[in-house]
Amino acid sequence: MRIGVLGTGAMAGALAGSWARAGHEVLVGGRSAAKAAELAERAGGRAGSLREAAGFGTVALLAVPYAALGDALRQAGAGEGVLRGRTVVDCTNALDTATMEPDPDLLAGGPSAARRIAGLAEGAHVVKGFNLAPAEVWRRSAPGPGEARVTVPLCGDDEDALTVVRTLVRDAGGEPADGGGLERAGLLEAAAAFAAGVWSQGRQPGAVFGPVPGPVSSPVASPAAG
Ligand SMILES: NC(=O)c1ccc[n+]([C@@H]2O[C@H](COP(=O)([O-])OP(=O)(O)OC[C@H]3O[C@@H](n4cnc5c(N)ncnc54)[C@H](OP(=O)(O)O)[C@@H]3O)[C@@H](O)[C@H]2O)c1
Repeated sequence: MRIGVLGTGAMAGALAGSWARAGHEVLVGGRSAAKAAELAERAGGRAGSLREAAGFGTVALLAVPYAALGDALRQAGAGEGVLRGRTVVDCTNALDTATMEPDPDLLAGGPSAARRIAGLAEGAHVVKGFNLAPAEVWRRSAPGPGEARVTVPLCGDDEDALTVVRTLVRDAGGEPADGGGLERAGLLEAAAAFAAGVWSQGRQPGAVFGPVPGPVSSPVASPAAG
């Protein structure tokens, strides 16, 4: 698969490397040509601009801070239809990446980042995913000995795009889960903000839930039911 990676930071680096190792053709695009070139060399892909990354493949990963979404999508040519018909993987969280504090938009119940992206990149098939686990998880490509694969809930409205992203989750060493339609993406974003708050208190976010007693089988038919 051809994958354009928009961003040159932690998530871009981790997933670009993982996908390149799995045999995908990756083009890393950044606003800094030097950072894109350095990351592409490290990950095993090609380098280019944000616009080149957006137009490169069937899939584009958007890995920039929430506050930069509008700017990055403008540079990518989203308003001119460059992302039309492509699957856009949105791993962003409405957090200040320096302080890990939730963005005021999130606290005020504004539209999810995924919805904003869908609005700015008309015709793109947005799939929310990879926003919960830290980038370090995806740098390894596979779980450590005795560790389970990390579950990656995906929210999206286009079944073909979801199928593609499920493959990319497995190729990165994770296990996809159905998170429902794009209208539920805000739940994943709020969960990430909550987890960041737990983590900033020196606690493991996963420990909040504790083990569910008994066999893990769902009493509900779909995420929308529960
Ligand atoms: N790190 C994690 O563990 C993690 C986990 C899950 C989800 N996320 C989410 O994933 C997204 C990326 O996080 P990250 O940790 O990879 O961030 P990061 O390491 O800070 O990298 C951010 C990238 O965005 C670029 N960027 C910033 N402002 C931009 C703008 N106005 N226009 C174009 N590009 C811009 C940066 O370019 P420059 O280097 O040129 O500034 C950099 O390439 C965030 O939304 C974050 O909440 C992160």
